Amino acid sequence: IKKIGVLTGGGDCPGLNAVIRAIVKTAASYSISVVGILDGFGGLIHNQTWKLTEKDVMGILPRGGTILGTTNRDDPFNYPVIQDGKKVLADVSSQVKNNLHQNELDALIVIGGDGTLKIALGFHQIGVPVIGVPKTIDNDLSATDQTFGFDTALTTATEAIDKLHTTAESHHRVMVLEVMGRYAGWIALQSGLAGGADVILLPEIPFQMSKVIGKIKERRDHGKKFSIIVVAEGAMPLGGHMVVQKHIEDSPDPVRLGGIGNLVGVQVEEGTGMETRVTVLGHLQRGGSPTAFDRILATRYGNGAIHLLNSKKFGEMVCLRTPDIKSVPLSEAVGELRQVSPEGQMVKTAEQIGICLGR
Ligand code: F6P
Repeated sequence: IKKIGVLTGGGDCPGLNAVIRAIVKTAASYSISVVGILDGFGGLIHNQTWKLTEKDVMGILPRGGTILGTTNRDDPFNYPVIQDGKKVLADVSSQVKNNLHQNELDALIVIGGDGTLKIALGFHQIGVPVIGVPKTIDNDLSATDQTFGFDTALTTATEAIDKLHTTAESHHRVMVLEVMGRYAGWIALQSGLAGGADVILLPEIPFQMSKVIGKIKERRDHGKKFSIIVVAEGAMPLGGHMVVQKHIEDSPDPVRLGGIGNLVGVQVEEGTGMETRVTVLGHLQRGGSPTAFDRILATRYGNGAIHLLNSKKFGEMVCLRTPDIKSVPLSEAVGELRQVSPEGQMVKTAEQIGICLGR
C-alpha cells in the first residue's frame, strides 16, 4: 500500500482532527502517502481532494470539527441527479471508483457514524478496500466500548448543568436542559449523574409527566426550591407522539413548543406552578476542543486504522475493547445501536440515589 484516501462523513464530532493527524503521522512512518477527501463522500463523487502532509496536520490535535469538512448528504449509492428534467436517486458508485483509481488510491479510510459506515460497507462489498473508524457523540455504536467525541459532549453537558444549578438556586426555578441523543440517552444519563440532576428523561424509558411533576413537588415540600431536569432530545412521554401532538394542539402558546425540552418545561410549569426555564444545548455539544480522553482514543483509532490497512483487514472497523484497540467487520458494526438498558446498573444507581426517570 502506497497511497490511501481518508474522509470524514456525517455530523462532526470533537476528535476527528486527532484521528486524521494520527493517520497521517502513522502512515508517514510506513512511507504511505495520504490524500484527504473533502466533504465526505461528496468529495469522492466530485473528485475534491487534498494531499495531506505532516505539515498540514500540525496543530490540529486540539481543534474541534474536521479540517476535511463533512456532510450528512451525498450517499453515492443514492445520489440525487436530474434525469429527463426530474430529480431521481441514482447509483454513482462507479464514478467514485473511477476517482479512487484516478487518484491512485490503494485503500480508503472512512471516519463516520452509522450512516457513513453503511456506505463504507457498500463500497467494501463492491471491491473497494475500506477501513472504518467509528465516530459519534451519542456513543450508541454497539461494536465499540466508546466512540470519541462522547466524552467531550458529556463534559460540555455537565458544565451546562453546573451553570444551570447556580442560577436555578438563586431564582428558585426549575431548569430543563435538553441534550442530544435521538435514539440513545447516554449523554443525558451520564451528564445527569455527573451534574446531580433531579430528573433524567431518556429515549429508552417512556416517561410519565405525573411522576416528573410529583418529584419536583416532593423536593419543594422538603424545602428544595429549585430542580434540574435533563431530557434527551429523543425522550418521549408514555403514549409517545400522540401525547406530544395533543399537547401542541391544546397549547395556548404553541410557539414555545420546540423540542421535547420545551414540552417538558411548559408542563412542569403548569403542573407545579413553579417558574421554569428551558435550555436547548444543541450543537454546542458537538463543537470545541476534544477532552484528553477523546484525543487519546481518536489518536489510537487513527493509528489502529493504518495497522488494519497494513494487515489487509479490509471491510473492518477499529473499535475499543478496553483496554485494547481491536477490530470488527463493518457488516457486524453497522445498524447495531447500543441503547441505555432500562434495567441496567447505571439506571438503577440513578434511581437508588433518588433521581426520577419518569417511571
Ligand atoms: O448523531 C449525532 C447527532 O449529534 C445527534 O445527537 C443529533 O440528533 C444529530 O446528530 C443532529 O444532527 P444535525 O447536525 O444534522 O442537526
